[in-house]
Amino acid sequence: MKRELALEFARVTEAAALAAHKWVGRGDKEAADQAAVDAMRTMLNGIMIDGEIVIGEGEIDEAPMLFIGEKVGAIHHSNKGDQAYACVDIAVDPVEGTRMTAQGQANAIAVLAVGRKGSFLKAPDMYMEKLIVGPDAKGVIDLEKPLMENIENVAKALNKKLNELTIVVLDKPRHHVIIKELQNLGLRVYALPDGDVAGSILTSVVDSDVDMLYGIGGAPEGVISAAVIRALGGDMHARLKLRSEVKGVSLENDKISAYEKLRCEEQGLRVGEVLRLDDLVKDDEVIFSATGVTSGDLLEGVKRKGNIARTQTLVIRGKSKTVRYINAVHNLDYKKEEIMDLVK
Ligand code: FBP
Repeated sequence: MKRELALEFARVTEAAALAAHKWVGRGDKEAADQAAVDAMRTMLNGIMIDGEIVIGEGEIDEAPMLFIGEKVGAIHHSNKGDQAYACVDIAVDPVEGTRMTAQGQANAIAVLAVGRKGSFLKAPDMYMEKLIVGPDAKGVIDLEKPLMENIENVAKALNKKLNELTIVVLDKPRHHVIIKELQNLGLRVYALPDGDVAGSILTSVVDSDVDMLYGIGGAPEGVISAAVIRALGGDMHARLKLRSEVKGVSLENDKISAYEKLRCEEQGLRVGEVLRLDDLVKDDEVIFSATGVTSGDLLEGVKRKGNIARTQTLVIRGKSKTVRYINAVHNLDYKKEEIMDLVK
């Protein structure tokens, strides 16, 4: 993938964040998500790519846009003759943190990851157990082993005592016992209410004190995390989980889990099998972009004065491992006509 594409993908998450920002604090997470989806789709269709959404907003019948299997890119929408189009797979989460956006809380971001065809695991929309570390602890994690053994191995690799380790865990009832155990061991726990993609990235960027992430979150978010962790040189192990294992057994969860099992079989995946970074994302040729919607530990959120808006975007090129923070000032009166209403 040409390096110029990185800026093109940064423009996509910028537009999604600007569109979602209109809905910050308005209590409507669906509207925020839809606006970001529409903006992302419009921007993707203007790029010189032949792209397919492999991690998206759901199946075609449940998500009108950016559904899994949707073709995006200029080749499909404004074919410019015999120009060269990069053939790519795309994983999107137009708003990672829809609830935080709707409630005006910290840490919501617009994200996407782009790789060569076939590079991303086509994970069904289900849960995933995740264990993630930064580059200095690469190679020492093993999800087959107990969490506590992993923690000791990471501490050894980082030459830290347990009370010097910081771990991110989503603050969900399913993690409350683990969080207490980790705190009793002396670890510092950052319990984020939502948003484990941002939490994953914190393990691998220099300007953060986070050493690890552990816990169960969404599988689509897991693949996006794997892409950025791969790009940053960190490490990740994961395990697909059925909803009935995470949320408890009930008739509804049983039904959903039966469907999840079917989707796994179709993709040749086994629930409970440990997936390593190479299984989740096949190579380093990845471009990742995230723009802050609301301010958080990773990025500044959108700031707006009238029709002038400021965004902060993190763009990473896996091949060179260059991490760029792009601060942009947008005059919304001059945006493409197709996205003007979404962002203004
Ligand atoms: P969305 O905003 O896209 O719904 O995701 C927020 C999130 O916290 C993810 O970061 C996480 O992987 C997942 O939801 C956890 O799912 P649940 O809220 O069902 O525990």
